[in-house]
Amino acid sequence: MENKKILFIITGGIAAYKSLETIRELRRDNFNVTCVLTKSGSEFVTPLSIESISGNRVYSELFDLNEEHKMGHIQLSRMSDLILVAPATANIISKIAYGIADDLASTLLMATDKPIIVVPAMNVRMWLNKSTQRNVETLKKDGIEFIGPESGEMACGEYGEGRMTEPGKIVDEIKKYIDKQNFRPLKNQTAIVTAGPTREMIDPVRFISNESSGKQGYAIAEMLQHLGAKTTLISGPTSLGAPKVTKLINVHSADQMLDACEASLPADIAVCAAAVADYKIANKISSKFKKTGNDQKITLQENPDILERLSKRNSLRPKLMIGFAAETENLQDNAIKKLSKKGCDWILGNNVSDNNVFNQETNKIFFVTKQYTEKWGLMSKKEVAQKLCKKITTHLNH
Ligand code: PMT
Repeated sequence: MENKKILFIITGGIAAYKSLETIRELRRDNFNVTCVLTKSGSEFVTPLSIESISGNRVYSELFDLNEEHKMGHIQLSRMSDLILVAPATANIISKIAYGIADDLASTLLMATDKPIIVVPAMNVRMWLNKSTQRNVETLKKDGIEFIGPESGEMACGEYGEGRMTEPGKIVDEIKKYIDKQNFRPLKNQTAIVTAGPTREMIDPVRFISNESSGKQGYAIAEMLQHLGAKTTLISGPTSLGAPKVTKLINVHSADQMLDACEASLPADIAVCAAAVADYKIANKISSKFKKTGNDQKITLQENPDILERLSKRNSLRPKLMIGFAAETENLQDNAIKKLSKKGCDWILGNNVSDNNVFNQETNKIFFVTKQYTEKWGLMSKKEVAQKLCKKITTHLNH
C-alpha cells in the first residue's frame, strides 16, 4: 500500500474518535493520509490531534482564498487514490445522495471521480430510517462502497445496527478493496472487440442495417479493459456513450470494420460481437435515388467475413478467436457448425428468434468450444461479459 493516498473525511459523530485510530492504522500500513474535517466533526476531534497523527495539514474551509491558492479543493481529490468518509453521518450520506455541495467535504465528494468508501456511524433509528436506507441504496447503485455499520451497544445507550466498524477492520477492508481494483490478470494482453451493426449504403442517405445496439460488444470490451487488456473497440454506429477502452474506432460498413480489425493487429484476443451485414449493395448509387414509378432491384454482394478472415490468417492470428452466432433456429447445431466453418476457438450462440437479444439488456448463451459446450442461463449482457472474460483469463493464464 506504499504511496497510496487516502483523502479521509471526518464528519460529526461521536465515533469520530475512532478516526484517529484509523488514521494511525492506515499510516502503519504506509498509506499517506490527508484529512478533511467538517464543522460538526470538529466538535468531536480537533484539527491539531488529526494533524499530529496524520502528519499532514487538515482542511476544513471551502471558501478560504489562501487555502484555495495553495491547494485548490478539486486538487485535494485529484491527488488522492481513494476517498474515505469515516464516520459518515446520516447527513453526509443524504448530501451525497442528493448532490448537495455546501461545504468542503460535500463539494469534494461531488467533484471527485475517485472511488469513495463510506463508513456509516449513527443511532440505530437514524440508520434504519427509511430515508437513510433509500439514500444508502442510491449510493450503492452509484458504485459507492460501504464498510459496516456494525451491530452493538451505542454511545446513546441503545442497542442495534449503526456502530462504526473498528479501525483494524476498516483498514483490512480498504486493503481488500485496493487489491480487487489492482486485479489485472490480462495486463499483458491486447484485445480487439467488434460491436454494433454495420451499415451498407444503398445511396448517400439510405442503408441496410440491423437492430444491434452494441451493448453486448461494449460490455465485453470494457470488461477486458477492466481486467488489464489493452482493448481496441471497433464499433459500428450506436447511440452508446464513450466506452472505457484504450482505443475506439468508429466505422460504418463491413469493409471498414475489416480494415480497422486488420490495422489493429497484432492482438492476443479478438471477440467479434458485431452484427455485421452479410451483404453489401453491389450497385450502390452515388447520388440520392429518385422515384421512377417502377419497381427497382438491388443486387447484393457478399461482404467479407471478418471473424473467418481473422481466424484463418496465416500470420498474426490472435491466440484466442471468439465469435457469436445469432440464430433463429437450431441454435446448438448451427453454433457448433459455425465454430468449425469460421475456424474460431469459441462461439457464443444466442437465440434471436423472438427479437429478445438485439437492443435488449439480456442474453441467453449456448457456449461452444472445440472440446465442450455449455448452456448459460438468462443473464444481463454485463454478466455475459464477466463470465466470458473469466473464461478468457483462465484460458490465457494456463
Ligand atoms: O448489440 P446488441 O444489441 O447488444 O446485441 C448483441 C448481438 C445479438 C448483436 C450479439 O450478441 C451477436 O450475436 N452478435 C453476432 C451477430 C451476427 O452477426 O451473428 P452471425 O451468426 O450472423 O455471425 C457469426 C459471427 O460472425 C459473429 O461473430 C459475427 O460478428 C461474425 N461475422 C458475421 C458476418 C460477417 N460478414 N463478418 C463477421 O465477422
